[in-house]
Amino acid sequence: MNSGDSRVIVALDYPQQDKALSLVDRLHPSLCRLKVGKEMFTRLGPPFVEALRQRGYDVFLDLKFHDIPNTVAAACDAAADLGVWMMNLHASGGRRMMEVARERLETRTNRPLLVAVTILTSLATEEIHEIGFSGDPAENVLRLAELTRQAGLDGVVCSPREAMALRQGLGDDFLLVTPGVRPKLATQDDQRRVMTPGEAISSGSSYLVVGRPITGADDPIQALQAINDEITAHL
Ligand code: C5P
Repeated sequence: MNSGDSRVIVALDYPQQDKALSLVDRLHPSLCRLKVGKEMFTRLGPPFVEALRQRGYDVFLDLKFHDIPNTVAAACDAAADLGVWMMNLHASGGRRMMEVARERLETRTNRPLLVAVTILTSLATEEIHEIGFSGDPAENVLRLAELTRQAGLDGVVCSPREAMALRQGLGDDFLLVTPGVRPKLATQDDQRRVMTPGEAISSGSSYLVVGRPITGADDPIQALQAINDEITAHL
């Protein structure tokens, strides 16, 4: 049993393991993958990742590493030991940090996918200037995504709004992992500039990270299936 061809990565953002697992047990690994982020991993650690893997799920470990190259490479190695399917780091850690991490993973058979965060979508233009970047966020996203590709990583995490420009600039073999997705009838929660699953796929997204529209649905499996159907219709 594994996550097959599903393009949906369900974001598990829960304070407690039992809540997360009761949702996970209502889904199915042939229909989605799962994302574990900083909150759940900090509370629950590797046993939680193992519990998801035991249930047959591919796990995206979303810890966004950013440190000196040797430390990030060692952290990626440790994440790979957990058997995760995908992990990430910050592209702003630089070319050498990304290359060293990728090289460390390449020593493995069946290595996990490694993707980078470019500019956090929470940052406004003034805020990226304040930390020393010039230009607008879109230019910086494209530049850092190009650096990520040159460093040999598999792709980037980006807003679906950025996906089309990145797909055009970086070609078909580069993964674009996009949060900020909302089915038409769902509430936006705290997401600001959302796209529907179909729009995200048409813009070039490879995988959609979807949390509350599934985790908060009365019938999560039905919500997931509706998203999968919409994706299939736009492929
Ligand atoms: O519930 P929702 O669908 O908004 O969850 C989206 C997930 O993607 C959350 O885990 C959130 O932290 C993550 N994320 C995001 N926007 C980004 C990067 C990550 O929403 N720019």
